[in-house]
Amino acid sequence: MPMPGKLPALLTSLAFVLVNAVLPNISIAEENRVTFPANIDKLVHYTTVTRGEVEEILTTQEAIDAVANNQPIPYGTHVVIRFHRDREITRYFVMQKGRGWGQDYPNGRTKDWQFQFYNADQSIKLEENTQRCQSCHARRASDQFIYTFDELKDFQ
Ligand code: HEC
Repeated sequence: MPMPGKLPALLTSLAFVLVNAVLPNISIAEENRVTFPANIDKLVHYTTVTRGEVEEILTTQEAIDAVANNQPIPYGTHVVIRFHRDREITRYFVMQKGRGWGQDYPNGRTKDWQFQFYNADQSIKLEENTQRCQSCHARRASDQFIYTFDELKDFQ
């Protein structure tokens, strides 16, 4: 017997496998290649943006070092926004780099990056269309698809 808590996850994975067998591209709501960073507590908080909610923006020390040296951010890197309202975490936005991952989107323009929206409990917000994230971030090709690239570069 699966544990009660495991069953929804099992169904989600099953749906994921089925959907991906039929659809070659990411379209609207979906799981994709992005994983929630298991090491989130080890990520470095390099900048904060406040617009209504407080956005703590985090990534790995390796990514910070790479950008400081004008190198590509390493494959596997997570960049995370942890949103807070009244000190409570409300959601997370995650972008993650993997070789060619951007090609799963119809316009492929984010090269190696995919995007995901996580609820406060770290489950995927399945009704989110991550193509929207992707098209907006595609405009930042000259800055490794990162909007807060200057902050990342200046962070010591
Ligand atoms: C309309 C444009 C737009 C869309 C859509 C968008 N973003 Fe962003 N993103 C930004 C901007 C601008 C920032 C810089 C932080 C800020 O201003 O809030 C940012 C910052 C980020 C960051 C921190 C690294 C960086 O680029 O600075 C992550 C991670 C991120 N977004 C993920 C996502 C995810 C996941 C989605 C979809 C759920 C998404 N974004 C949708 C514009 C966008």
